[in-house]
Amino acid sequence: MSESIKDTDKKYVMNTYNRYDLEISEGMGVNCYDIDGKEYIDMSSGIGVNSLGFCDMGWVASVTKQACKLNHTSNLFYSQPCALLAKSLCEKTGAKKVFFANSGAEANEGAIKIARKYSFDKYGKGRDRIITLVNSFHGRTIATLSSTGQDVFHNYFFPFNDGFDYAKANDIDSARSLIDDRTCALMIELVQGEGGVIALDKDFVSEVERICKERDILLIVDEVQTGAGRTGKFLASEHFGISPDVTTMAKGLGAGLPIGAVLAYDKCENVLGFSMHGTTFGGNPIVCAGANYVLARMDDDFLFAVEQKGEYLREKLEKIDGVESVSGLGLMLGLKLKTKNSSDVVKEGIKRGLIMLTAKDKVRLLPPLVISYDEIDRAVAILEAVLKD
Ligand SMILES: Cc1ncc(COP(=O)(O)O)c(C=O)c1O
Repeated sequence: MSESIKDTDKKYVMNTYNRYDLEISEGMGVNCYDIDGKEYIDMSSGIGVNSLGFCDMGWVASVTKQACKLNHTSNLFYSQPCALLAKSLCEKTGAKKVFFANSGAEANEGAIKIARKYSFDKYGKGRDRIITLVNSFHGRTIATLSSTGQDVFHNYFFPFNDGFDYAKANDIDSARSLIDDRTCALMIELVQGEGGVIALDKDFVSEVERICKERDILLIVDEVQTGAGRTGKFLASEHFGISPDVTTMAKGLGAGLPIGAVLAYDKCENVLGFSMHGTTFGGNPIVCAGANYVLARMDDDFLFAVEQKGEYLREKLEKIDGVESVSGLGLMLGLKLKTKNSSDVVKEGIKRGLIMLTAKDKVRLLPPLVISYDEIDRAVAILEAVLKD
């Protein structure tokens, strides 16, 4: 690795990440290369972003064409890529309207605002609390950190926002005990990603949806990590057969450019009106042109292939000696290891040309959705060797 870039980065970029000793210089598909030309197979997708892998040529062409035509307009004007992306997202999901932001956290901020405003419009002040789940992760802004149900994130930056209560995942009595006249929404990840790649129970999710509908409490589903095909459906909600009131997306929708999307369904489509929310960059034409390409690629065949490859990968992982269990959905998988430490395994994987992630005590795999069976075999072979030695 070039010492000068490492040193420059360490000196000038705030040290909020403990970077691996690897400088990636280019990538294509599922493979990337360091500055010495060493090849790596990527099972991380830049933490779930590179849904189409590195530098997919169709995505590059869409983005480049748009960059040469119109780079930015601000939200004071209409532009084709933004309007068409909103239309495609609504048609694909049944949502009625979309707000574009620039990240997952920002999308969740938008969802929180919709929930509180919906309730304010209908019930007046005081019905503003949001229930999230213990072990959740919703982002790094102050409100989304506050909504994140992990004590480890509730430090240093006091005061955090009041207004969030944390129910135990898969424990409907815990959720019930927190719901009262002040509750305006429940916000959940269907597969807790950062929390250890843990899928919620279907029964729990169905009951949460039922209670929400019964009490006019909004159901917000954070699909920042699970959305855009990651689990083998366009949205993970489809696996659970639920109809949320608000869904948030980011990561894989951008496929390499920053985007966040707040999808509002029937009840909420007109909650945020003129001047109630905004962003300078959200809906940027270049970003939206890339996302339009992502949506065009994610047809039924594409999503079915993700589901199939997810099953194939899971079966292979379950057979590895050092793996105790495999959790998750589609191509979002977590490995509980029998004896080895997940961070050590990820570090050793990088040395051997395999990029993986951790999530709590697990190894987390979020490969590009375009990964081939052959590439899965190659990645699993390296992981198997790492766990054996
Ligand atoms: C479920 C979930 N929500 C929100 C976020 C925050 O997204 P971002 O980092 O784009 O703000 C993440 C990021 O990992 C996430 O996994």
